[in-house]
Amino acid sequence: MANFEYPEGFLWGVATAAYQIEGAADEDGRTASIWDTFSRRPGAVMRGDSGDIACDHYHRWESDLDLLVGLGVNSYRFSVSWPRVMPHGGASPNAKGLDFYDALVDGLIARGIEPVVTLYHWDLPQALQDKGGWGNRDTVGRFVDFAQVVHARLGDRVPHWLTVNEPYCAAFLGYREGTLAPGIRDTRVALHAVHHLLLAHGSAVRALRADGLKGQIGITLNLTSVHPASETDGDIAAAERLDLYENRMFLDPVFNGQYPSDMAAVFGHGMDSGVVREGDLATISTPLDFLGINYYERHAVTADPAEPQSGWKLVPPTGATISGISVEPAGLTEVLSRVARDYAALPLVITETGQALFDYADPEGRIKDTERIDFLQSHIAAASHAMADGVPLVGFFPWSFMDSFEWAWGYAHRFGLYYVDYPTQQRRPKESAVWYSGWLRSVHARSGIAAHHDVNTQAAQTLRDVEDTRCVA
Ligand code: FCB
Repeated sequence: MANFEYPEGFLWGVATAAYQIEGAADEDGRTASIWDTFSRRPGAVMRGDSGDIACDHYHRWESDLDLLVGLGVNSYRFSVSWPRVMPHGGASPNAKGLDFYDALVDGLIARGIEPVVTLYHWDLPQALQDKGGWGNRDTVGRFVDFAQVVHARLGDRVPHWLTVNEPYCAAFLGYREGTLAPGIRDTRVALHAVHHLLLAHGSAVRALRADGLKGQIGITLNLTSVHPASETDGDIAAAERLDLYENRMFLDPVFNGQYPSDMAAVFGHGMDSGVVREGDLATISTPLDFLGINYYERHAVTADPAEPQSGWKLVPPTGATISGISVEPAGLTEVLSRVARDYAALPLVITETGQALFDYADPEGRIKDTERIDFLQSHIAAASHAMADGVPLVGFFPWSFMDSFEWAWGYAHRFGLYYVDYPTQQRRPKESAVWYSGWLRSVHARSGIAAHHDVNTQAAQTLRDVEDTRCVA
């Protein structure tokens, strides 16, 4: 890994999402999203947390961007809040909402950092959910309106766009398992949501291109590596069904223009008639400029006839992290190689990967997240192995820039490279931030490019101070 040559222009960044960091939930014309509603439902989110204040990034964005300079990233993935830009999901843009993102983009560019914009990272306007949300085809048109408004304002400066983040989670966890907003449990509605999310993606790609898109556009899928627990026919069949559920339901329509013909094996039925209309799959499979992949999980699966519909059971991971997920860097190599081999000869970007810990500051104020450093090292190595085998990977974004509102986990699970002390909103670099910035410096040094954090900012100085203490300790 130390000698691996990353291609010129490789995107080294960090990622966030609007509802998770911005706060300012009632400010400047923002209206409610499904997450404002869901987080108020008793028992839905750990400790009853919500994103009302989150990291207060809406007010602290300038100093947050300075921290990015300190890290030395050359790109930053963030999302645009739909209900901040289009109140109630309607057709009239909110000038103050757009101004915020306009300033953010200018602030990034002024600091030499490329913006990577996600249009939908789960904050559907509640007013649209009241009309059925992603179960309702009309939501597709509202999303395209929103995408066009954002693109009209930012398109001259944003080189990378992502339409939808993780349609699997938005549809299946939001509308089938009910663990994420809007908390619905209905397989039929969830399948409609899959289709409408993908149609929103494809329609937005086409609309933005028709509007003269200069940047590149893709979608972010969360993909898993699935393995049968044994070589028995039952386990192999269970793994095929789980792979369909987690991966093929999204990869097949986006790249091959069809839903898996065997989807009834998982859901008991196919897509309801009337949902998929003439031309939809052609829109969904509109060729992309790149694919974003979020990688968190590798699953071993066994047949379980007691599970009436799916017939599978995950083998509980050994050495699971606090999120119940084990650290499996090999799965990242497998996912990247599989996509490149079976689906798409297009550039791939790891738009998220990361590990949650119960981080805390020690009495000297240090946050020793050694496990996260190991995670980053092993996942960068896994990505590099895939590249060495010819996978066209062009970017790597750890989740996350800073600790934030982690959906149903609230603030309990911390994924950040920066620690956020929520009562004071103070940010502190964890040891992983120091490691990542050192890693980026070494990559830049090898390619002869000056690292951003060689600029003498306060944030860069803070990182160096933490590094010095660590070396002394
Ligand atoms: C992903 C989400 C992201 C973050 C990580 C931990 O599923 O896209 O917002 O919460 O999980």
